[in-house]
Amino acid sequence: MRGARVVFGVLGAIAPCAHAHRLAGWQASGAARALAIGGALGGAHGRRLFRSALVPRTASPPTTMAATAAATTSGAEAPPVPKLRADYAPPAYAIKKVHLDFALGADETTVTADLAVEPWDAGARTGDARADLVLDGEELTLDALSIDGTPLEPSAYSHGPTSLTIRGAALPAGAFTLRTVVRTKPRLNTALSGLYYSGRMLCTQCEAEGFRRITFFLDRPDVMAVYSVRMAGPQAAMPVLLSNGNLLKAGVDEARDGPGSHFAEWADPFPKPSYLFALVAGALQHISSSYVTRSGRTVTLNIYSEPESVDALEYAMGALKRSMRWDEEVFGLEYDLDLFNIVAVSDFNMGAMENKGLNVFNTACVLARPWSATDADYERVEGVVAHEYFHNWTGNRVTCRDWFQLTLKEGLTVYRDQAFSADMSSEAVKRISDVRMLRARQFAEDASPLAHPIRPESYVAMDNFYTATVYEKGAEVIRMYAALLGKAGFRKGMDLYFKRHDGAAVTCDDFRKAMADANGRDLAQFEGWYTQPGTPTVHATWAHDAGARTFSLTLRQVPPAAAGASAPPLHVPVAFALLRADGSGEALGERVLELTEREATFTLNDVEGEVVPSILRGFSAPVHLVAQRTDAELAFLMAHETDAFNRWEAANALMTRVLLGAADAGARREPLGEVPAVLLDACRATLVERAADRSLQALALALPDFDTLSSSVEVVHPQPLCAAIGWLKKGLAAALKPELLSVYAQCAADDAATAAYSPDAESIGRRRLRDACLSYLSALDEADTTALCMQQLKGARCMTDALAAFSAASRVSGPARLEASAIFADKVKDDPLALDKWYRTRAAADVPSALSEVRELMSLPSFSLTNPNRVRAVVGAFTALNHKTFHKEDGSGYAFTAQCVIDLDKINPQVAARLARSFSAWRRLEPASGALMKAQLEQLQRTPGLSRNTLEIVNTSLQ
Ligand SMILES: *[C@@H]1O[C@H](CO)[C@@H](O)[C@H](O)[C@H]1NC(C)=O
Ligand SMILES: *[C@@H]1O[C@H](CO)[C@@H](O)[C@H](O)[C@H]1NC(C)=O
Ligand SMILES: [Zn+2]
Repeated sequence: MRGARVVFGVLGAIAPCAHAHRLAGWQASGAARALAIGGALGGAHGRRLFRSALVPRTASPPTTMAATAAATTSGAEAPPVPKLRADYAPPAYAIKKVHLDFALGADETTVTADLAVEPWDAGARTGDARADLVLDGEELTLDALSIDGTPLEPSAYSHGPTSLTIRGAALPAGAFTLRTVVRTKPRLNTALSGLYYSGRMLCTQCEAEGFRRITFFLDRPDVMAVYSVRMAGPQAAMPVLLSNGNLLKAGVDEARDGPGSHFAEWADPFPKPSYLFALVAGALQHISSSYVTRSGRTVTLNIYSEPESVDALEYAMGALKRSMRWDEEVFGLEYDLDLFNIVAVSDFNMGAMENKGLNVFNTACVLARPWSATDADYERVEGVVAHEYFHNWTGNRVTCRDWFQLTLKEGLTVYRDQAFSADMSSEAVKRISDVRMLRARQFAEDASPLAHPIRPESYVAMDNFYTATVYEKGAEVIRMYAALLGKAGFRKGMDLYFKRHDGAAVTCDDFRKAMADANGRDLAQFEGWYTQPGTPTVHATWAHDAGARTFSLTLRQVPPAAAGASAPPLHVPVAFALLRADGSGEALGERVLELTEREATFTLNDVEGEVVPSILRGFSAPVHLVAQRTDAELAFLMAHETDAFNRWEAANALMTRVLLGAADAGARREPLGEVPAVLLDACRATLVERAADRSLQALALALPDFDTLSSSVEVVHPQPLCAAIGWLKKGLAAALKPELLSVYAQCAADDAATAAYSPDAESIGRRRLRDACLSYLSALDEADTTALCMQQLKGARCMTDALAAFSAASRVSGPARLEASAIFADKVKDDPLALDKWYRTRAAADVPSALSEVRELMSLPSFSLTNPNRVRAVVGAFTALNHKTFHKEDGSGYAFTAQCVIDLDKINPQVAARLARSFSAWRRLEPASGALMKAQLEQLQRTPGLSRNTLEIVNTSLQ
């Protein structure tokens, strides 16, 4: 699955292939010993936390805690009991085969399920002391229940709000078939989990725990079964009937299904967990193509959508073929079914879902046409199509034993989609964009009470753990394996992982073991990355002894507060090189230093001449690096770094330094003064350079964002921080106006000279740099700069042109702001995804009347709380992007958001819980804002009837 807030814009790259071996001349003091000590610690830790799935089951097998709690009540919902990773035990029963029969209707659907149940470890069981069978089930009306054809007596079972318990005494000793008949109400299912109605179709979303809203089941990923499906529904309203696997039969059987009905039968021959089940039925159209695999098999590819969007599917089709080719070339993984279906759905909580053979996508992650999608959207579509396709191996064929292991499939698959996107465009641009996103979202999460390890230890609502930490930091952890083992070693590890575990439900430890065994490495200490929450800090200091011609680098790691000061040291790969101080290149090429102790000194001999160290190249580990550099050194690195990421990082560090200084001054009510000359000169140099890659230029000019800056200070003063960002943007624009105008004109002219819209890297770079210039210029709020925005908007040739101009114009003070809004609205009024962009831009606009404007937006007829994309476009954009108004001193922004959480929670708890996360930063805000935000959390906690999803976020934020 891919989250809904998947990065806007470029995604990054596989790291420059790192070398796992130290070159001669390098000694890491005590590194080997450190590994041994760390290994022992990691191992003990692992054993304690890891009660094995292989422990023989006792006579009365443990059921899951939540299920036990639920089964004891009937009526009111039991207080939520957190599930603990340490409590993992296999279920008492296995389900090996599932046949589902759907009588489909938007108002009511009846599901008859035949489950082939047997004791989990059939051989080891005796006939007596049989365990209860506790099935998960929510929002289901139970009509019938039988075992091997005999209806059950009411005394044999009990039915609570979240489960169905059949007493052990009522169960046969060996295998049996359980039949349940239930009814659900798809149209009323606004939570969009389970079976629901969206647009003109019925569709499903089962990950993580939605299958239990379709039928009673052991709804956990280690229960893997072979599924067959019969579905029948009205032919007129549901001409297309899809499910996983292969189509066996389709036709009309009115005697059985009623007049006007038709049916289809699908079978998926491979065992799968219930979260990968999918069904779609509706009035869909599709485009079709085919792909020939490297072994010569022809695969039919279909992408379905509502009829008005079929013209926007071609780009996704191309992306799908590129993904299939890439996975064959890079990982040797080939598709071996004859059919692959994708469906676009407009009401969807997440970005997309990798159901076997039937991927379901949020329209925002699959539809792309020049007039509704920006360059960033095109990049996202390609990345998400690839992500879901890659899941077939990393997720579907090898899946997770339990939900604590989510990063096993998600971190790995994000890593793979990042590598794919890097290969399709630019490695450096992708890497920088990914790290920017990691810092803005994941580092911010780490700095909040919601911090958790990539493999969490407990959860109440699993939906709350589809987080930046599990996904994005999870991908960084995979990347570190590649840094430590090298590209070839990583591939060996992947090959062994598939060889050992194809078709199984496994753990993160199994993955780490495959990597270690394939390479003969001890990766015990590396487990720390799975157990410790928070972002570690690495301090770097160095000394150059010209007489002795030695250079020594000392690295010291400090655990994050969230992990506790005594947390054992991590195994940190630090990519490193030495640059010549005269700017003439590298004195020593890149290698990877392995920091395994709290502190280690690496000494290099025979160093000639003056050098400057290049540290953590390519951002080789997800840490805060502290290296004391002067402004002049940063300026040197901006010009002469040989690592593209670090070159960008130098610019970013200089801007961060200036911004935080200004924010401090503002918090002390001191004047902000002038933008330092060193920064002006560096930005001017970046701007006028005729770089080969204009995307890199644009990134180097991008100011650090509010969230990243916030997570790098102890106490956040929101208003002074916003003011500092505004001050720097305007200051740079004023000083560089002539250069900005001229680069803008060059890029615009180059773009006008191209024939048609194309989302290739070069065209994107041109528009990106042009729009970066326009954004700076608009900050001046002068007549000529505003006119430039209006000119670009009126002459726009594609959505990228229009949106950049509208965003820039949406912050100016004069009447042009509303004029731009009207022009843009007129262009997009008939296209829901494009209209979302209008809503988002209005909600994010930093204007004095922002809050009342957001309220107005929510009263428009096209606004609806039931469509997650629209909610994110308005309320999500307001809380995440409109910092000045969200953090308004009178608390009105917080109060508004809290009310939205309450209203939304009744409709869609998953989306409400995401919104409630905007309050998690309260502890680090200056006291007045912090108290106001905390008060809203406390009010939420007291609100009766709040979902467990939202309450878990609220409670954790308050802890
Ligand atoms: C997906 O997995 C199934 C079996 O689990 C396999 O038959 C199919 O070929 C896989 N598809 C891809 C994309 O590899
Ligand atoms: C949250 O805390 C409240 C009050 O302490 C408690 O009643 C509730 O059960 C908790 N809910 C969750 C989901 O943790
Ligand atoms: Zn995923």
